[in-house]
Amino acid sequence: MKKALKSCLCLNDFERHARRLLPEPIFGYISAAAEERASFDNNINAFKSCAFVNRVLVDVSRRDCGVELFGQRYAQPFGIAPVGLSALFTYRGDLALSNAASSRQIPMIMSGSSLIPLEEVAQRNPQTWFQAYLPGNIDQIDALIRRVIQAGFKTLVITVDTPINPNKEHYIRSGFSTPLRFTPRLFWQGISHPRWLAGTFLKTVIKHGIPHFENNYATRGAPIVSRNIERDFSDRGHLNWEHLKRIRGLWKHPLVVKGILSPQDASMAVELGADGIILSNHGGRQLDGAVSPFEMLPLVVERCPRVPIMLDGGIRRGSDVLKCLALGARCVFVGRPFAYAAGVAGQQGIEQAIDLLSAEIDRDMAMLGLTRVSDLHADGRRFLHRPGLARSLRAA
Ligand SMILES: Cc1cc2nc3c(=O)[nH]c(=O)nc-3n(C[C@H](O)[C@H](O)[C@H](O)COP(=O)(O)O)c2cc1C
Repeated sequence: MKKALKSCLCLNDFERHARRLLPEPIFGYISAAAEERASFDNNINAFKSCAFVNRVLVDVSRRDCGVELFGQRYAQPFGIAPVGLSALFTYRGDLALSNAASSRQIPMIMSGSSLIPLEEVAQRNPQTWFQAYLPGNIDQIDALIRRVIQAGFKTLVITVDTPINPNKEHYIRSGFSTPLRFTPRLFWQGISHPRWLAGTFLKTVIKHGIPHFENNYATRGAPIVSRNIERDFSDRGHLNWEHLKRIRGLWKHPLVVKGILSPQDASMAVELGADGIILSNHGGRQLDGAVSPFEMLPLVVERCPRVPIMLDGGIRRGSDVLKCLALGARCVFVGRPFAYAAGVAGQQGIEQAIDLLSAEIDRDMAMLGLTRVSDLHADGRRFLHRPGLARSLRAA
């Protein structure tokens, strides 16, 4: 493990080690993207559409990467995106992620598709945000929100880009399924990855029993090996803006809507009371061929100037983070790299990944001629050259 961590020098390096250390179906679950991977590629490539114009002879001997969000100060302008089933990547995955986020003072969003009761995470790290997938009917929605309130979470994220399940093609190819089926292939993958088998899977089963979906409803869901799982998740197609309005009525703390790409949807969410938006195409895992959130960012920021606009998808470098902030994002989130880092070395791996990205941001700020991340919020475009932004750059 130590050797693997030593050779992880940037976020992308964790993927290579996770591929080796995790069973193929688990790695395949994390790396999956929809169909032709066009949305995923759009996310990665979008950052190449603009370049920095750095300023020189600025005193950058002191630098501050911190941001404020919903009255809370964070040490970095990035956080950990919600990632389902993370307790299959490392032992007690959601706790490993929230502990790492807490130790580095960055935001972390716990997924509603998780295998550890949300109360445990809220108790240990009360500053964690909770992400809900809405259940199918109003009584179930109300009960779930009441449970999240009761647990003590202070920021609720509602994911709205998954009205139905995505194409499972890539899951099938890698042997991943929910319910988890104990096929000869999965059995072989388990025994040929003894560190994962003993340190994550068997340790979990021995100490806590077969994992269940704990947080999709107010009550405990089905075990991950149960045939009823599909039914548990397949009843969201009718959800609409009325449901968001209802949640706003129930939830008095900051409410964030995740999975928006259109400026019209963003402004509708804000009109209905959302306190923040996370632009996202779910890391390219839902609709293939979706535009990257980064491309839509300036339009949404212009349309919704009063709430923090955040985004995720394809962020792998400090320079990606700073480009998002320069176009008006308040904060960004990172998904797969932290999931891979969890698979490589649990909490320690995640902390290393956070530290690597933080160091890149700090270095890039100095080279940009920037002392405070918050200065980007006010006037970030002067640091960017982008064909569509050329006029504003000349004006600066
Ligand atoms: C394995 C995996 C599981 C995910 N599970 C969830 C989830 O439960 N809820 C959610 O809102 N988003 C989920 N996402 C999407 C992420 O929150 C985020 O939008 C995406 O990973 C960002 O793209 P990136 O992986 O390129 O950083 C998941 C992503 C991955 C890779």
